[in-house]
Amino acid sequence: MTVQTYEAKELFHWLVTKEDIVVVDVRNPKDFDRFHIEGPYPFEQLNISYYEFMEDEEEAVMRTPSDRKIRIVCAKEGSARYVAEILERHGYDVRYLADGIKTWGNLLVPKLVAQGQDYALYQFIRPGKASCSYGLLSGKEMMLFDPSRNLEFYIDFAEKHGCVITRTFETHLQADYIAGSRDIAGRTGAVFYANDGDFKSSRNAYTSLQDGEFLGFDSGGPRVQVLFTPGHTPGSTCFLVDGQYLISGDTVFINSVGRPDLGGQVKEWAVQLFASIQQIRQLDHSLIVLPGHYSDWEEADSNLLFARTLSEIFERNSAIYNLDTEADFVAFIEANMRPQPEEYDIIRQVNAHLREEDEERQEELDLGKNECAASAYAAAKKEQTD
Ligand SMILES: [Fe+2]
Repeated sequence: MTVQTYEAKELFHWLVTKEDIVVVDVRNPKDFDRFHIEGPYPFEQLNISYYEFMEDEEEAVMRTPSDRKIRIVCAKEGSARYVAEILERHGYDVRYLADGIKTWGNLLVPKLVAQGQDYALYQFIRPGKASCSYGLLSGKEMMLFDPSRNLEFYIDFAEKHGCVITRTFETHLQADYIAGSRDIAGRTGAVFYANDGDFKSSRNAYTSLQDGEFLGFDSGGPRVQVLFTPGHTPGSTCFLVDGQYLISGDTVFINSVGRPDLGGQVKEWAVQLFASIQQIRQLDHSLIVLPGHYSDWEEADSNLLFARTLSEIFERNSAIYNLDTEADFVAFIEANMRPQPEEYDIIRQVNAHLREEDEERQEELDLGKNECAASAYAAAKKEQTD
């Protein structure tokens, strides 16, 4: 009998519905430590590498709970199938992840943020990256904000809603994942918008955003205002949708703010970020912030949506927002700095179209959780709430 597979989408559903499963990741411990499955609620996960099953089958089987549903994960599928077949011979209820962990890394989960009179706003959560992209639909058009490279998902989503993708925006030059706007624009003819502050020296064909301008849909619908908020990067931009929803990129997070030290000019960028934060403090505190990343599922609300009012965010992060002088803010940032993954420089160059990488290398670069928050601080916040 052949062992059944499952898909990343099903795994997410089981984790959300707290199904009684045990995830067994059979990759080596190094790859497991770098990146593994994380869900909104605690669940049991074991890392027993497939080498262990090869070397001492009995011992590895003994370590696998026999009275639970076992869901195997591996890098590409082959070793998960190998282990699943062993466990099935031993009478286990077992399935393995089709196509390996990259399908988890690329999974997008759509959540409705708002259903306006003439529009719908969706958050697309990427659990494998702890990042969010957004879709704004009105009439027969869909705008995208910070899409990942899972093009098929966005194109299908638009089609299912009777829309075509007409505009795609980048909130900044991403360092932690391969941005999808260039390819989306190439595939669909959508206009790719970005900020000169980050993209001027890139080789992308894009339309320059203007600070304060409004963009809209052909059929009316909500307006999107462009707000330049430099700091995380010099070209960081927020988008205010219908005067109510602030797509904040990596500027405002639910915990922490976007780290301004990724470009190697900590002081200069921290000064810009401080000025942008003063500007954000002037906005209507009832705006709903929709961030580009989260660091932990604890930040989600009871509907598993990453959306909080500005006033809640100011309160949660009072240690940052109460810093009233530029000097104190820069000192805070410097105290919270940490190294960035080596891949970030390569990812930036790929996103700027200054470097080509093949599909497989892009997949590899794109896998793993983000490191975008000023997060010695975010980690401390997490400890407080754990
Ligand atoms: Fe970023």
